[in-house]
Amino acid sequence: MNRLALYANQLAHHLTITDNRTGKTIEVPISTSRESDFIHATKLGALQYQGQPLRVYDPGYMNTICCTSKISYIDGDKGILEYRGIPIEELAEKSTFVEVAYLLINGELPSKSQLQEWDEKLRKHTFIHTDASQMMKSFRYDAHPMGMLISTLAAISTFHPEVNPALAGEGVYKNKDIVNKQIYRILGSLPTIASNSFRNRIGREHNMPHENMSYVENFLYMLDKLNEKEYKPHPKITRALEVLFILHAEHELNCSTAFVRHLSSSGVDIYTAIAGAAGALYGPKHGGANEAVLRMLEEIGDLKNIPQFIKDVKDRKKLLMGFGHRVYKNYDPRAKIVKQIAYQVFEITGKEPLIEIAIELEKIALSDPYFIQRKLYPNVDFYSGVIYRALGFPTDMFPVLFTIPRVAGWLAHWKEYLNDKENNIVRPRQNYVGPEKRNYVPVEQRKEFPIYLESNKSSRQKRRETATLS
Ligand SMILES: CC(C)(COP(=O)(O)OP(=O)(O)OC[C@H]1O[C@@H](n2cnc3c(N)ncnc32)[C@H](O)[C@@H]1OP(=O)(O)O)[C@@H](O)C(=O)NCCC(=O)NCCS
Repeated sequence: MNRLALYANQLAHHLTITDNRTGKTIEVPISTSRESDFIHATKLGALQYQGQPLRVYDPGYMNTICCTSKISYIDGDKGILEYRGIPIEELAEKSTFVEVAYLLINGELPSKSQLQEWDEKLRKHTFIHTDASQMMKSFRYDAHPMGMLISTLAAISTFHPEVNPALAGEGVYKNKDIVNKQIYRILGSLPTIASNSFRNRIGREHNMPHENMSYVENFLYMLDKLNEKEYKPHPKITRALEVLFILHAEHELNCSTAFVRHLSSSGVDIYTAIAGAAGALYGPKHGGANEAVLRMLEEIGDLKNIPQFIKDVKDRKKLLMGFGHRVYKNYDPRAKIVKQIAYQVFEITGKEPLIEIAIELEKIALSDPYFIQRKLYPNVDFYSGVIYRALGFPTDMFPVLFTIPRVAGWLAHWKEYLNDKENNIVRPRQNYVGPEKRNYVPVEQRKEFPIYLESNKSSRQKRRETATLS
């Protein structure tokens, strides 16, 4: 539909709303988009009652569009995912992660020379400041790699005060060169930060980035190189991880990506915004789900325990992790590709026994009315954890393997956000149901209200409490 026709169409479609509190009628135009039609919530503000505008209530953003974007498109009912219009299946088959990152961030596939320049820029930024590397070494031996990654990303903001809006002024990101520089720094250094967090866990020195390897190959190299002169990761493993990176790079306004926009709206520096988004991704309902899937498969442990587990899920005692999605009400297109990769990886690493449990769970769930009625299908996390396990990653590295590629999507949204004329500070409203206005009561005159103040105690704390203290 051309722009004029779209405009005419928008004029033609509207809601007529009559407020029976006041008798006022308003017409609210319905906007049309490829995904869904919508109305502007602020238009409802014209319906005033006792001096207050009418607002919409939507905890969890179940039915709220909060921005206009050109980055990715999802049709959850049909199981479609496109990056800048290109189907995820084609990108997974034909592209590389570095090229996909370019596509997401810059809007078009690069020419040969643009790709070369982009690749070089990322390579040049793979080294992190030795102070950051040193700082990472101060984490405890058993620190969760996501904790290390998040903290390091936030800490790196302190290394670049000259481009921090809090110090250099709000307008600093109006400079395109500065924006590009932060993109190269973050995307380029992320595999280094991630591999450092892994090396800490295994008690090995951090490896320096390799000057002549691809993005994903270099990541595997930094994770694994010991004293070999010419360490080179297996090309099929590199490609498997590359495809997983492509699949995880972007997924429109999921919890963490929405958070990048949310944080950026305050004007905070991009390192802090990315660290915050990584925090959102860490949660088991989001990027931590692959970790949770693995723990669930381990807990089930044997095919014979599956019926009881499914019963527990249906009795709402447990969740079938890796199933269900806010947007997909069909098979997640990424999950299909991940399942194929699993078998390619097993050809090299040997079969991961937990795959049997995963396949049986999927088979039962896809034929059980509980899951069918609720349109619960495997999501991207269901099989990715099994692959990561087969590749020898400790479970707590799984969300890190999700974060690295997703940063490409976050940066694409950041760049889009910076150029968005509607980019107001995010500031939702609340439905206040607390006390009416009341006066402060001096402590001697207060009535005691029963409030639960206990916190959990370790055995050591309990033992200490038995001691006589003075
Ligand atoms: C992803 C998720 C948070 C989406 O939640 P949502 O869009 O809010 O969906 P709802 O919570 O409204 O779920 C709808 C129904 O399906 C059920 N349901 C959703 N996911 C379920 C799961 N994984 N296992 C069992 N039941 C599930 C809910 O209990 C609810 O049932 P009800 O209507 O009888 O109350 C949710 O499916 C989930 O927690 N999945 C497991 C974690 C996971 O894999 N996350 C990765 C996402 S990529």
